[in-house]
Amino acid sequence: MRVGLTYDLRSDYLAMGMSMEETAEFDKEETIAGIEAALRELGYATDRIGHAKALVRRLEAGDRWDVVFNICEGLQGVAREAQVPAILDLYGVPYVFSDPLVLALTLHKGMTKRVVRDAGVPTSDFCVYETSEDLEGLRFGAPFFVKPVAEGTGKGCSSKSIVRDRAALTGVCDDLVARFRQPALIEPYLGGREFTVGITGTGRQAKIVGSMEIVLLSNAEKGVYSYENKGNYEDRVEYPATDPANDPVAAAAERVSLDAWRALGCRDGGRVDIRCDAAQNPMFLEVNPLAGLNPKDSDLPILARMANVSYTELIGRIMDSATARLK
Ligand SMILES: Nc1ncnc2c1ncn2[C@@H]1O[C@H](COP(=O)(O)OP(=O)(O)O)[C@@H](O)[C@H]1O
Ligand SMILES: [Mg+2]
Repeated sequence: MRVGLTYDLRSDYLAMGMSMEETAEFDKEETIAGIEAALRELGYATDRIGHAKALVRRLEAGDRWDVVFNICEGLQGVAREAQVPAILDLYGVPYVFSDPLVLALTLHKGMTKRVVRDAGVPTSDFCVYETSEDLEGLRFGAPFFVKPVAEGTGKGCSSKSIVRDRAALTGVCDDLVARFRQPALIEPYLGGREFTVGITGTGRQAKIVGSMEIVLLSNAEKGVYSYENKGNYEDRVEYPATDPANDPVAAAAERVSLDAWRALGCRDGGRVDIRCDAAQNPMFLEVNPLAGLNPKDSDLPILARMANVSYTELIGRIMDSATARLK
């Protein structure tokens, strides 16, 4: 079976003059090489395609693949992650991971929380802020947590995101809106434990690969798994594997994650981020339907490894879920 690979290489965009933060979600060469090596080990033939525009050129030239392994985050537009799957749908080429509907929805954390909440999955109350008038809809009190509504990799999440009184909210939100040119999401600050949960499969077949807790060390920026803490995780963060059989909070976090994954219609593999309130009730924060796949540094491969699932086996489970749709 011939598998095409679509991806956004960070070095391509740095060379175009974009900053480290702007390109934080794009992939390193070693990630593409890792996926490619795993696919070959699993017996697939691989073909590197590259970003969305390269894909368009290849499709127009008449190239086709049995399936495309798509990890493109996209460059611009609110539905940037949905662009490659939408193009592939146009040409009738099957692909790995979620469809355009899911990838467009889940990039927007506020819209995602509406769907998750409607499905009865626990998630905190929230308010999407474009201007100070939106605070009229705020139904909860301080402390607050404020972040951009549609970013990832901790962008716009720092100690400044924790807002202790309502009077300070407008300033923090306006700063984020100006800096990221998108609405801010206000939530209650969740002061409990934090987990990230790995899932493979689709719908009823979806299952937990493993999960880990995010434990900030004493030299980390406090109270938030921020952009800075993520970037310096080697000496600021510990990621103990959870023990759901003996840890009811971790077990509940996995249940909430699987329920959210299924409710949103996510496919093949990814991660759900969970944060507990002060009473240690797990709350859905966000889903990563295109979770990082760097074999060494990305959370999903790390938590899989801790659960004795090798990188190749992880890619194999993702492919099994995707190729089941081909039949
Ligand atoms: N409501 C909240 N309360 C407390 N911490 C939060 C809240 N929302 C996000 N965080 C912190 O910010 C981090 C990044 O938020 P998240 O929504 O997962 O964004 P990203 O897409 O950048 O990973 C989380 O891992 C968590 O530590
Ligand atoms: Mg996250």
